[in-house]
Amino acid sequence: MKTILTAATLIATLAVSGAAVAQDFVQSGTTPTLPQREGQAIYNAVCSGCHMADGRGAEGAGAYPPLANSDFVESPDAVIAWVLNGYRAMPPLGSIMDDEQVAEVVNYVRHNLGNSYEGSSTAADVQAMRE
Ligand code: HEC
Repeated sequence: MKTILTAATLIATLAVSGAAVAQDFVQSGTTPTLPQREGQAIYNAVCSGCHMADGRGAEGAGAYPPLANSDFVESPDAVIAWVLNGYRAMPPLGSIMDDEQVAEVVNYVRHNLGNSYEGSSTAADVQAMRE
């Protein structure tokens, strides 16, 4: 019982910290405020709070799907769309990152965390998908 409670508390804390991470970089004016420029650094700063540093995801108070060894991330456009616009409990992150940063983190996820999909997204690909 103690173990279960501890795990639940941990997940609840993670869920809160993930949202807090995203809020740390809330857009001010029209300038994206996230300082990180490189894919892994962006992943660690923004995504890992919910999806974990190794991408295994988390299950508990909320469900954070794994990005590691994921069929979902085979499609770069799907990942770009989710990062830009969010989906249900995943927050929209398009306002905290510029096109280059979105492309960097999408490429990081598709080429790391046990994924080795072909192709790289560019800032132009991201720009074309902004609504
Ligand atoms: C505040 C927590 C949070 C943060 C931060 C976050 N995500 Fe998510 N993400 C979620 C949740 C929750 C879902 C599942 C949403 C659903 O299906 O209802 C999800 C789903 C996804 C999916 C779909 C996976 C699948 O198999 O369905 C992708 C891809 C994804 N996130 C990528 C990212 C990337 C890349 C970042 C960082 C740029 C990121 N997420 C940051 C919470 C988060």
